Amino acid sequence: MRFMKKTMCCLLVTVLAFGFLRASSYALEAGNDPAVDRLNEFADMVMEEKGQSFGYPGNQNVQLTGFYEWLIESGLDTAIVNNAGDPFNNTDPSLNALDFEREVIEFFGPLYGFDPDNLWGIVTFSGTDGNNHGIYFGSKYLEKKTQQQPVVYVSDAAHYSNMRLADLQNLDLVLIPSDEHGCMIPEEFEKLLVKDRPALIIYAMGTTFKGGIDDQEAINAVLAKYPSIEVYRHVDAALFGGFLPYTEYRDAVNRNVQPYDSIAISGHKFFGMDEPAGLFLTTMEIKENQNPYNVTYLNGSMPMINCSRSAIAPLKFWWMIQHIGIEGFTEQANGMLERAAWLKGELDKLGWRAWLEPMSNTVYFERPPEEIAEKYMLAPDYDERLGGELSHIVVMQHVTEEGLQGFLDDLADYMEESTAAAA
Ligand SMILES: Cc1ncc(COP(=O)(O)O)c(C=O)c1O
Repeated sequence: MRFMKKTMCCLLVTVLAFGFLRASSYALEAGNDPAVDRLNEFADMVMEEKGQSFGYPGNQNVQLTGFYEWLIESGLDTAIVNNAGDPFNNTDPSLNALDFEREVIEFFGPLYGFDPDNLWGIVTFSGTDGNNHGIYFGSKYLEKKTQQQPVVYVSDAAHYSNMRLADLQNLDLVLIPSDEHGCMIPEEFEKLLVKDRPALIIYAMGTTFKGGIDDQEAINAVLAKYPSIEVYRHVDAALFGGFLPYTEYRDAVNRNVQPYDSIAISGHKFFGMDEPAGLFLTTMEIKENQNPYNVTYLNGSMPMINCSRSAIAPLKFWWMIQHIGIEGFTEQANGMLERAAWLKGELDKLGWRAWLEPMSNTVYFERPPEEIAEKYMLAPDYDERLGGELSHIVVMQHVTEEGLQGFLDDLADYMEESTAAAA
């Protein structure tokens, strides 16, 4: 009897609590607060459209629900935690998540061939922020070594952030022509190489539109002819750097196989962060050869560009490492590449001109009519060498075979209609 009473009591409390929660969420939904109505409208739009986002490299299968539940339960949503400081020199671990940030870098470093004893890095605000650090660290490292400012080399198919950042940092920039697959042309690089200045080379590891990967071996062969040129190599691997370590192409981002000094990767592309973030990885040797501005209150030299940095982004990365991990990343990465190869094969069967570079999840093709391009949010590009107007599909985690089949069916219908109209 006592047991029954207790059970009934618990049930009543649960029903009341549930009722209260429902009531408060009804209050949010019932139009009592115009601010919430406006936010709901925005959220509905995002939820409706995210599955159709085929033309951009964001992973729309974000898996952070558990993280947010934890964040609210823990009370951390009422605190400001700030990662101002060096994650590898955290002398005051209060109100920062620098130790988690260091663990994130230590987890990813070896996947890119960094020796754990000679590794430094940060969780950045974005791929662009990682490139900013790569260019800044590279130029200061070379300047210290040679007492000369380097020349920055990047292909004209690389992401515009590299050009913008060279401009921002007031560095001489040489744009190297790329071939029709989006790769730097090594012969053009040799022609434009300034032989009496240090070289800061940015390798595009997956160009934004075509997914071209610069041929590091061929470019290194050019550099080997000029041994007096001091070189720093930064890899812009915003999207591809996320997934390649979990595929048969892992050597392409392994600095023991393809030597480089730093790499930038976006967090919101492959990894599925829900807001812009990224990783910047380099060696301790590069980090220690920066301009040493000592900051007394942070107890050391702070080589990173920003003072305040997110403490939440490293926690999210850390969460993903624990809950998705190498096994999950491997499954996701290989699934993307398989579906990209499948899409290319299906476009070939349809007779719609399409290309897919090695190691790439980005299929680019002759631009479909506007209604299809709009439906699947396909960004435009133009290359005379490939017949003019182009679009691409970036096969991310949320771009399923079913979704791709819908796109292919739309394209097949369009082709049929245009053939019928022409007859
Ligand atoms: C190759 C490449 N580099 C850099 C970036 C910039 O990265 P973020 O948007 O994370 O700043 C992008 C973005 O698409 C990119 O494709």
